[in-house]
Amino acid sequence: MTEHTFIPETYSKTINNGSYTWSSPSNIALVKYWGKKESQIPENPSVSFTLDYCKTTTKLSFSKKDSNDDFSFEVLLDGEQKEDFKPKIETFFKRIERYLPFLKEYHFKIETSNTFPHSSGIASSASGMSALAVCLMSIERELNEQISDEFFNKKASFLARLGSGSACRSIEGDLIVWGAHEDIEGSSNFFGIKYPFEVHKNFKNYQDTILLVDKGEKQVSSTVGHNLMHDHPYATQRFAQAHDNLSKLISVFQNGDLNAFVKIVESEALTLHAMMMTSMPYFILMKPNTLEIINKIWLYRTNNDSNICFTLDAGANVHVLYPENEKDNVLEFIKNELVGFCQNGHYICDQIGFGANQIQ
Ligand code: PMV
Repeated sequence: MTEHTFIPETYSKTINNGSYTWSSPSNIALVKYWGKKESQIPENPSVSFTLDYCKTTTKLSFSKKDSNDDFSFEVLLDGEQKEDFKPKIETFFKRIERYLPFLKEYHFKIETSNTFPHSSGIASSASGMSALAVCLMSIERELNEQISDEFFNKKASFLARLGSGSACRSIEGDLIVWGAHEDIEGSSNFFGIKYPFEVHKNFKNYQDTILLVDKGEKQVSSTVGHNLMHDHPYATQRFAQAHDNLSKLISVFQNGDLNAFVKIVESEALTLHAMMMTSMPYFILMKPNTLEIINKIWLYRTNNDSNICFTLDAGANVHVLYPENEKDNVLEFIKNELVGFCQNGHYICDQIGFGANQIQ
C-alpha cells in the first residue's frame, strides 16, 4: 500500500453542510518513536497502548463557501476561539489537501475539548489530531459511501500521522504498531495497525496512572526533538534497538512475561531521554521529582514483588504502568508515596482503551 491509495477519485455526491462529532484518545508508546524523515515518516517502528480516559472530543461543522481559493476555518477550545491553534491546523490542512480535495470548498468550525486539563503537560496533539482526522473522514464517507470501515480507519490514521506522528496510533486500540517492522506483516510507515498477534491476558486492561510532575509548556517541541536525531551520534544504533525491542515484545506479549516487559519499557523510556541528553543542543527533560518517583517505583517493585513500571514521554511527567490485578495496591502506593512529587498533587488514572468513537 502506498500513499496513492489515499488519493480519492472525484466524488459523485455533493453536500452543502453538516457536522460530525468524535472523541479520540491519547496513547502511550512502549517502544518510542523519536526521529523522523520527510512527511512524518518515522525512523523506527513504535508500539503503544491506546488510552481510554485521556481524550479529545471534536465537533467539526462545515458549510460550503463561494470561493475555493484558501482554507477557511475557526478553532474553539472549550468554547473560546484559539488563534494560536490555527497555524498547526493550517499546516495539517496543507499536508492533507491532496488526500481530501474538498478541504477548500468548505468553511470549518472546529470545536474541541479535552478530558484532561490543557496545561497538564499531557500532549493533546495525538488525541486532537486523531479526532480531527476521523471527523474529516466522516465527511469523506458521506461523499463516497463505498468506503469500508477498514479503509476509513487506515486513512484516518494516515491523515492523523500528517498532523502529529504519534496521533496515527490513536484511531484504534488496544495495542497499535506504527512503522514497518520485518516481523509484523502489514505494519507500515504510513499508518498505525492493530497489533496482529496473540496478546496474553496479563496485558488486558493494563493500567496507566499519569503523575503530573510538571504541567508547564513543553521545553522542547516534538518537531525540534525529532530533528535532534538528524546527525545524532547514536541514531543508527537507537533505530536498530527499537526494531529489536519490538521483536522482543512479540514473544513477551504472547507469553505474558511481565518481568521482560518491564525491562523493555523502562529501557525505552530512559533511552528516549538519553537521546535528548546526548544530542546537540542537549536537554534534560526530567525534573528532580521524576527521578524521585522512578526510585520509589523501583523500591516498591522489589519490596512487593510487583510488576509496576514507568515510562516517560518527552517531558517530566511519569506514566506508571501496572497490570489490573495490582490496581488497588498500586493506587494505595501512589496516594501514600508518590502524590507528594506531583505538581499540586495532581495525577490522572487511565487504562488501555480502544480508540476513536463517533458521538454524532
Ligand atoms: O507525535 P509527536 O511528533 O508529538 O512525537 C511523539 C514522540 C514521543 O511521545 C516522545 C514518543 C512516542 O512514540 O509517542
